[in-house]
Amino acid sequence: MAEPDAVQTFEDGLTKIRGAYEQALRDATDEPELRLVNGRYVGPQGELTKLLKLMPKLPGDRRRELGQRANALKQEIQTTFDVVLDGIHRRARDAELTGPSLDVTLPGRWPMPGRLHPITRIRNEVLEILVSLGFDVADGPEIELYENCFDKLGFPPDHPATDEHDTFFIEGGKPSGPHSVLLRTQTSTIQVREMSRREPPLAIVSPGAVYRRDDDATHSPMFFQLEGFLVDTDVTFAELKGVLTLFLRRLFDEHVAVRFRASYFPFVEPGGEVDMSCVFCRAWEGDKERTTACRVCKGNGWMEILGCGMIHPVVFENVGYDPEKYTGFAFGMGLDRIAMLKYGIPNIKLLYDNDVRFLSQF
Ligand code: PHE
Repeated sequence: MAEPDAVQTFEDGLTKIRGAYEQALRDATDEPELRLVNGRYVGPQGELTKLLKLMPKLPGDRRRELGQRANALKQEIQTTFDVVLDGIHRRARDAELTGPSLDVTLPGRWPMPGRLHPITRIRNEVLEILVSLGFDVADGPEIELYENCFDKLGFPPDHPATDEHDTFFIEGGKPSGPHSVLLRTQTSTIQVREMSRREPPLAIVSPGAVYRRDDDATHSPMFFQLEGFLVDTDVTFAELKGVLTLFLRRLFDEHVAVRFRASYFPFVEPGGEVDMSCVFCRAWEGDKERTTACRVCKGNGWMEILGCGMIHPVVFENVGYDPEKYTGFAFGMGLDRIAMLKYGIPNIKLLYDNDVRFLSQF
């Protein structure tokens, strides 16, 4: 049986939906919102869907006409939905085209992982070789007593290296005398410190920062040295030569030639400087033309690399060793200089500017 007010309900429903759907759909700002609003009319629980479920209750003579009106309205809602969705898509595309560009063909950006500084790398390489030969690693303070830096190493009081102009004295420390305090000018202080607290036999290497009032393309007021020394009974110059030759060949090239020149350091006797064949023109290969043109060794095929010698008996006396019983050798090198030679770096400042463009090449 048809209910008389079903017609009324149905017509009212159609009128209400017709008056509201268009604005509601057009107000949607994105696709999910549009679909939600659309569902309120034509979804499974939608207002129009509910009306259509009333159809069987309509009187037979009105059912066809009201059904057609409801279907037409459903069609209109669908058309409006399509138009609004199309607009939303077009606006999104326009925003992509006019907004900041995204080029998916560009290579990705790699993260910049940190890496070791060239001086740290050289220090590690040098230590690896010397530790494999049996040397222990020791450390010492950069702020040092004058006497450990000079007096106990046998520097005479008027030695030029002790000149205030070559040294940074610590303000507030004693201005002069054995107990004045300074930034160490050499890692040879470690000889004094380690020998004073240990008995031979000992073999020690010690890398670290040192300070001098120097500043040009090859000198920096702070730089790095590495000290090595060995004390035992019956140590000879031959062992010093053997250790340094093997060390330089492992570090640079197994073919490098090594030569020793007499030189003076107060804490060694005899003292020497070590040259090795130039690693830039590969002087050992004997290509005269290449060596003549070499700017690093200036054509002579050699470069100065470190200082060395047999530890002076006076140093042994100063640390309480019997100079009649013990002999030993010592050597010292600039780690900056070795890094510059090994990596072909022309100016020491590059090592301390911390420019990532430079450092990332190593
Ligand atoms: N300490 C010396 C310097 O700074 C280098 C050196 C070390 C020389 C050990 C001989 C032996 O110049």
